Amino acid sequence: MPNEKARIAVFVSGGGTNLQALIDARGTVIKSGELVLVVSSQPDAYAIERAKQAGIPAVVACKRELGSQEAFEAEIRRRLDEYNIDLIILAGFMSILSEDFTRRYPKRIINVHPALIPSFCGKGYYGLRVHQAALDYGVKVTGATVHFVNEIPDGGEIILQKAVAIRKNDTPETLQKRVMEQAEWKLLPRAAELVSKQLLNTKKE
Ligand code: GAR
Repeated sequence: MPNEKARIAVFVSGGGTNLQALIDARGTVIKSGELVLVVSSQPDAYAIERAKQAGIPAVVACKRELGSQEAFEAEIRRRLDEYNIDLIILAGFMSILSEDFTRRYPKRIINVHPALIPSFCGKGYYGLRVHQAALDYGVKVTGATVHFVNEIPDGGEIILQKAVAIRKNDTPETLQKRVMEQAEWKLLPRAAELVSKQLLNTKKE
């Protein structure tokens, strides 16, 4: 099937600028994959609006509403099966996925983290906290990492990384913006293409 593409679900929780970068890369950087579903852990995430504007179905799986981690993950799995998903992209997804969940999708979940792993990563390091930690430590260089997701938080194999210089007067907010613009929004579409291509090749074997 020469026209076949990897079917991608993007998981979001907030503003969805990384989702937007993926949407904008459709057909250019991302040629081997197709964005077919957006899953939001928050009912009011602006990312849902972005999905709608791009014509991508968006569904909500909210742990608070579903009552337990098991019910939350069962709902997500039901959606992934419904849409026949090959690859999951965590793009600012702020809910933890259990080992039971990640084990079901080996090398089929990727995540973007706003630091150079193994720095400023793991439990408790998300969003602006990551940039605050980098500034508190006083590092001169930070960046972003796209990696496979396994049972260790931010511990899976690294796919791509890009460094970003820290400036003297940076705040967590200015640093977050620059890391997004210079690293995350570039790396994530490239990684989506790389992994989609790999998945298609292994399907053919
Ligand atoms: C991004 O900076 C992403 O790297 C980070 O949250 C932000 C989401 O922004 N993710 C993590 O911290 C995960 N540990 P977005 O919703 O605009 O893409």
